[in-house]
Amino acid sequence: MITVLLATPSDELAAELEDLSAEAGTFVIAPRVGDTVALNSTLELTEVDVVLLDSGIGPLSALDVAQDLTTRYPDTALVLLSASADPDVLERALHAGFRGVISSPLSLEAVSTKVEAAGVWSQRLRHRLTERPEDRRGRMMVVAGAKGGVGTTTVATHLALEAQLANPERRVCLIDFDLQSGDVRTLLDLTHHRSVDDLVEVAAEVGSRHLNDALYAHRSGLRILLPPPQGEHEADITPEVARGILGAIRTRFDLVVADVGTVVTDGGSMATELADEVLLVVTPDVLAMRSAARLVQLWERRRYRKDGITVLVNRASRDTEVQPDLIGRVLKLPVMRANVPAAFRDLEAAVNTGVPDRLEDGPVRQGILAVSRELQLVRPQKRRSLFSRGDDSGSAIVELLGMAPFALALLLVLWQVVIIGWTYTMGEHAVREGARELAVAGLVGEQVEQVVRDELPASMRDGVSISTGASTVSADIRVPLLAPRWMTPWTITVQQGTVREVGL
Ligand SMILES: Nc1ncnc2c1ncn2[C@@H]1O[C@H](COP(=O)(O)OP(=O)(O)OP(=O)(O)O)[C@@H](O)[C@H]1O
Ligand SMILES: [Mg+2]
Repeated sequence: MITVLLATPSDELAAELEDLSAEAGTFVIAPRVGDTVALNSTLELTEVDVVLLDSGIGPLSALDVAQDLTTRYPDTALVLLSASADPDVLERALHAGFRGVISSPLSLEAVSTKVEAAGVWSQRLRHRLTERPEDRRGRMMVVAGAKGGVGTTTVATHLALEAQLANPERRVCLIDFDLQSGDVRTLLDLTHHRSVDDLVEVAAEVGSRHLNDALYAHRSGLRILLPPPQGEHEADITPEVARGILGAIRTRFDLVVADVGTVVTDGGSMATELADEVLLVVTPDVLAMRSAARLVQLWERRRYRKDGITVLVNRASRDTEVQPDLIGRVLKLPVMRANVPAAFRDLEAAVNTGVPDRLEDGPVRQGILAVSRELQLVRPQKRRSLFSRGDDSGSAIVELLGMAPFALALLLVLWQVVIIGWTYTMGEHAVREGARELAVAGLVGEQVEQVVRDELPASMRDGVSISTGASTVSADIRVPLLAPRWMTPWTITVQQGTVREVGL
């Protein structure tokens, strides 16, 4: 049976729909509310499949309410009851998030068909979202800090954000499980007052609705679970509570990134134990390495975690004495090839404004992207052609084709340079032979010119002009254009001097 919440100020309309519901027998109007305030408070307490919303409701307009409800309760179908069947109304309603419009006068067929279609959609979606954890589990990554201030929150936040931006379809959740002193709230300048506190009571059976209420929806699409506003409430997050909350989140998201900070809390430990992988953030210094070693030993002693720990170097620099290979040897853990260089200026605008998108496209962002690629949170960078700016292969091919004439012209110019060089070399050789005959054999004038001519390749002989002096031989040779048989009007002059060995 499909449950329907009817929101209309009209008693007449309500009575009419009650009759149609009884007649159809496929849906039941559970609660009825008369205004948008009552609608909101009822939806917070009751789960229904379909909301039938009268376009004449107040004080907020039906379209505004719909936009809000589709964000807060994406698994509840909204159907608009409208006095008019105008296509314009339909278009605006669909745009606002309604799944259908029922216009007056109401007929049994129109009402039952639309309510049933909406109800079935909602129930199917809910069923998918509440599949058991064993059936569907997103990837869960814990980011822990070797010690305070190493950049755990920065890394976790930007990794989650890049993963979300790279694929808007992917459901990514960032959990601030640094339960005593988490600062994702500050880093993103959030005023959202809901937090993990709101899930403590329902930890054993966290539903989509609870999560929708508790998670902050960032405009990138990233959902964020904030820590308790008062650090001491961290004690409420017992291991069982943490297990329930993390399990519920994991079933509804493709990727979960949890910042557990440095302090070992019950909640953070449970996340460390449940995660598929742990990223241990260190800075390249001895203090951070010692803290990292202590933390890893603690995890092992308490049996939270032994394997699946990878070290990420933040604030990396080539100038530091402690380099990644040393960190790997000391900690006996794999160290990521990619790292995040030290560059506070890159982060300054993003940190000071609470707008992570303002991270400069400098070494820090490139480092975060390289780390995301190595962790396979974003797809590897495609090879780009020399001149390509696009990143899909189709556009690279088009660009390559566009470049073809330029490449050809470049090739021809290079070939012409080779031809000029060849002409010069052949000319020099012929003139040198002529000069040798002039010096050694005592040949003169035309005889020398004939020697030069004979030494030249046949294709050069036509355009050549040779002159012989008392002790020099020179030739003006026409330069071929690309091939020996095509001559340009330009000539190059080669000359060879000699000492005439007369009388020897
Ligand atoms: N690669 C980097 N280069 C320069 N500054 C950085 C880098 N990474 C982080 N920072 C800066 O270091 C400071 C601490 O960062 P962050 O809050 O992420 O650390 P944390 O380990 O989460 O700290 P906490 O222990 O307080 O939770 C911030 O001001 C941040 O902007
Ligand atoms: Mg932090």
